[in-house]
Amino acid sequence: QNIIAVIPAAGVGRRMGANLPKQYLKILGKTILEHTILKLISVKQISRIVVAASKSDPYIADIIKPYSDVITLVEGGQERADSVLAGLNAIEASANTWVLVHDAARPCVLTADINNLISQCIKLERGGILASPVADTMKRDDGNLNISKTEQRKGMWHAYTPQMFKLLELKQAISKGLANQAEITDEASAMEYIGKPVLLVESNNCNIKVTRPDDLALAEFFLQKSIE
Ligand code: C5P
Repeated sequence: QNIIAVIPAAGVGRRMGANLPKQYLKILGKTILEHTILKLISVKQISRIVVAASKSDPYIADIIKPYSDVITLVEGGQERADSVLAGLNAIEASANTWVLVHDAARPCVLTADINNLISQCIKLERGGILASPVADTMKRDDGNLNISKTEQRKGMWHAYTPQMFKLLELKQAISKGLANQAEITDEASAMEYIGKPVLLVESNNCNIKVTRPDDLALAEFFLQKSIE
């Protein structure tokens, strides 16, 4: 099975408050993006990686140079979904091609969890995502820092990446969602939008999205553990 990975890496990482996009911050001597690329390269079934970076990005060329035999670079877009679609458009379409989308900002994902997602999706012939059951009680606000409601925690999951789908279906789903201005914050939400079922595959909790300054120390801890 030849699976193509897409890494959306065109975000600016505003919540990190650093002077460069978060995927270019270094942990254990490597940029976050490079750690992420290495995790995907370690998965035997992934044959190519498409990275979507922003046009004016001065960092990307040097980072991908050592991996130029497996990486294709494309220009990202305004929102994450635009960047993913740009990546999908760069892939030669075959009816049976699976694609696996993974955030640049999730370097700590375990290779074993990616392999598990791949085998579940292929076995069940269904798209799926890595996810983790919610541990905290979930509150909805009223827009004014008051609790308006407690959401039922049972059955709630954190949606992580990778998210794996058939190329043509995912392209169709994201294009339709974007054209209708639906809220597409991950690939699964695009598939839900066109009414396709999506499988939840439980992930280790170390698969955090590096978002805020505090996440850097946590990511370093998890990366150290997964390299040991
Ligand atoms: O901003 P957020 O943390 O949700 O971004 C998730 C991933 O999507 C990051 O890897 C980021 O670089 C990417 N992204 C993108 N294009 C955008 C916005 C975010 O590729 N326009």
